[in-house]
Amino acid sequence: MTASPLYSTYRLGPVELKNRVVMAPMTRSRSIGNVPGDLVATYYAQRAEAGLIVTEGTSPSPNGLGYARIPGLYSAEQVAGWKNVTHAVHEAGSRIFVQLMHTGRVTHPANVPAGARIVAPSAIAAPGEMYTDSAGMQPFPVPEAMTEDDIEQAIAEYATSAKLAIEAGFDGVELHAANGYLIEQFLNVASNMRTDRWGGSVENRLRFALEVAKRAAAAIGGDRLGIRISPYGVFNGSTSDPETDALYLELARQMSELGLVYIHTVDHSSMGAPKPSESLFHGIRKAFHGTRILSGGYDATRAAADITKGEGELVAFGRPFIANPHLVMKLETGAALATPDDKTFYTPGEKGYTDYPVA
Ligand SMILES: Cc1cc2nc3c(=O)[nH]c(=O)nc-3n(C[C@H](O)[C@H](O)[C@H](O)COP(=O)(O)O)c2cc1C
Repeated sequence: MTASPLYSTYRLGPVELKNRVVMAPMTRSRSIGNVPGDLVATYYAQRAEAGLIVTEGTSPSPNGLGYARIPGLYSAEQVAGWKNVTHAVHEAGSRIFVQLMHTGRVTHPANVPAGARIVAPSAIAAPGEMYTDSAGMQPFPVPEAMTEDDIEQAIAEYATSAKLAIEAGFDGVELHAANGYLIEQFLNVASNMRTDRWGGSVENRLRFALEVAKRAAAAIGGDRLGIRISPYGVFNGSTSDPETDALYLELARQMSELGLVYIHTVDHSSMGAPKPSESLFHGIRKAFHGTRILSGGYDATRAAADITKGEGELVAFGRPFIANPHLVMKLETGAALATPDDKTFYTPGEKGYTDYPVA
């Protein structure tokens, strides 16, 4: 029997990973006042067997704090909170990237701080409802269509936040361009009906993602910047159109040219979304010359097989990490995995967060 490639080391830009297992970004809503505290540091440090941790979606702007109790990364207090987290993870022997997520239209006024605005490419509400602490489930509001100044402000916020991430001790930054949040809202025809240079053609819909990536790469270096995408995703009202393949192939090509360190593809068919086309994923791999992170419904066998086949170099695990802090040890030894309780995915406090058995 040959050793699984999942447990071999990997060089990701300037950082050495001790194995190929990535903890996938997962919103857990434990940051009271949008500042990660000691509990968050404990949670990530408990999961430091991962070669790389990608944090939960973290907003570069007060405008992007769409969900209750999610963290931000734009104030001094947040930088201090994250410093505590990155220190704990490094002490425990792992590496950590922060996922920058601006929620755009996937926001409710009850969730954001006073003075924040709900902005998106077009004034089109996301379908459905979202949870708020003060009023329970609420329909999504109609966002304000962003002006040129709003767009410039948002791009600048990503770049500043990326810089603050390095100050806070992160090994790098992942841009969340998946799952129907602000960057994907620009990519996607369901949320972008602009007729100016930010909408319409593939080139125009890609412009926001590219500008954000360019400015963030200029701030911290492309070798510390990754991006997560979900072609054919349906979350938060995203859809596909006849140009979806062309758009994502061009995105991969341009992100590669910019020197981004990885592209992280999401396949949410494990969560009920349609299966994305294999040929598009192969095309993305060919177009992007850096590292590729695979994710969605993986177990140890499929992860090792896909690395061996050259489908990707790293594999992210999401839900299994919630209930199994020592996931890597369990994958390696074939131990049975505990099942996470989805009722505590987003509730405040320790329950269902830091109280899964760590032994
Ligand atoms: C509780 C929860 C929160 C999540 N939050 C995020 C998030 O903040 N950012 C993101 O890109 N994906 C998020 N995801 C998606 C996961 O990163 C991952 O793609 C998904 O769980 C499928 O992988 P899995 O089958 O290994 O769980 C979340 C998933 C779960 C279960």
